[in-house]
Amino acid sequence: MRGVTRSHLVIISCALSGLLVATGQAEAAPAHPPRYSPGAPGAGDPYFPDMGNGGYDVGHYDIRLAYRPDTQAIDATTTILATATQDLSRFDLDFRGPLTISKLTVDGLNAAYTRSGAQELVITPPHGLRKGSPFVVSVSYAGVPQKIDDPALGVSGWVATKDGAVALNQPIGAATYYPVNDTTDDKATYTQTITVPAGLTVLANGEPGPTTTRDHRTTFRWSMNRPMASELSMLAIGRYDVTRGVTAGGLPNITAIGQSIDTKPGQGKVFNQTTAQVVQWESSVYGPYPFDSTGGILADVGVGYALETQSRPVYDQDTSDVDGDLLAHELGHQWFGDSLTPVHWSDIWLNEGFATYSEWLYQEKFTGVPVQQSFAKTYAEEKDWSGKVADPGRDHIFDDLVYNRGAMTLQALRLKIGDRAFFQVLTQWPTVNRYGNVSTRDFIRFVERLTGRDLGSFFRTWLYQPGKPAL
Ligand code: TRP
Ligand code: ZN
Repeated sequence: MRGVTRSHLVIISCALSGLLVATGQAEAAPAHPPRYSPGAPGAGDPYFPDMGNGGYDVGHYDIRLAYRPDTQAIDATTTILATATQDLSRFDLDFRGPLTISKLTVDGLNAAYTRSGAQELVITPPHGLRKGSPFVVSVSYAGVPQKIDDPALGVSGWVATKDGAVALNQPIGAATYYPVNDTTDDKATYTQTITVPAGLTVLANGEPGPTTTRDHRTTFRWSMNRPMASELSMLAIGRYDVTRGVTAGGLPNITAIGQSIDTKPGQGKVFNQTTAQVVQWESSVYGPYPFDSTGGILADVGVGYALETQSRPVYDQDTSDVDGDLLAHELGHQWFGDSLTPVHWSDIWLNEGFATYSEWLYQEKFTGVPVQQSFAKTYAEEKDWSGKVADPGRDHIFDDLVYNRGAMTLQALRLKIGDRAFFQVLTQWPTVNRYGNVSTRDFIRFVERLTGRDLGSFFRTWLYQPGKPAL
């Protein structure tokens, strides 16, 4: 979705309550006859050419899923509300792995579909879809989802755990358990309604809805009412101790710790309170927090990283202490990565550079280590100066280069433009681009406009030229 409009939300809620909006009826009759053609099978990311699709824009995902830990199987229906952005004869969704589709409809009518390659679900509706028309795709499917284990990108997608499952979707995991336009620049709202055996807990992005238990099965509902990129969607099913609180600014704050994790006494409370403290402090530096609740999940998932899943990051227990630094990193991403999301994965330094810089700011504020000291230490100790920060290559998006040189670029910028302008950048950049998609070019233009300076050669040196920049 590109901006949430009120009329779109009305369409969403009408369609969900069963009042299907007749395709195109609300639109004025287009002047030209339809020229139906297939939507593109990719969204144009050079690193991930098959990810995402063209020809439509998703407004909402309604994921209804039941999970059985004994067989590890899911049984699900995902309903997608979208709008055609061209006259469509057919279109693709991304959908991976061995799940079997039992029914697929477009606007309530059975649609033909095939699966091709690793992730394309090719859908031919019985009628063409006119540009500008809203349409509803509903896919029912079942099976045992398979995680992705990519040599360069690590484990992502649906990961079975000892007592349930955790879904972590950056960058390519979402399609392992729901059909999706898996690209960063088609954000949408989400409802996730998840049924599990009674006794298990489900956590997900956003706000909790009512929980109901019937026939030894409990259904949880979570909704994310702000635009979210699919790579930031998340689910955690298992035995969790949940702590509910509010931040000083009044934001609901839901944290959870997996019961199998060996915790110190009081750790649930500390985790909740540190999360609240970091969100409150980051809001004072980066501007208003972009979502309607916050929190975090400490899970035994075994992927070896923490992830900035929207509104509620997940910390793998391997990421040890879950200390303030790591919280500052993942919660900093809520502004940089989640609310503002790069159009292309080559620009991931706009996430990781700012999130790493959040750690440095946190250390200065709470442990007395000046940012300049963190910069100097990183500058002295960093070994990898060979890549391009703003185009590291598909297999290097999570390299230290992106994190460390990304953060060093920001500190070097601060030294160049001064504290006043720099802290204006830190609040205004996320504010003017809230819920949007951004690029490195946008960032450079933004800073140049704010400062009235030509910073072309500065950014070229730090972001695009391999080699250690002179100070
Ligand atoms: N983006 C995550 C963070 O910095 C880290 C991450 C996600 C990661 N996937 C990864 C790190 C794969 C290494 C490998 O918060
Ligand atoms: Zn990060």
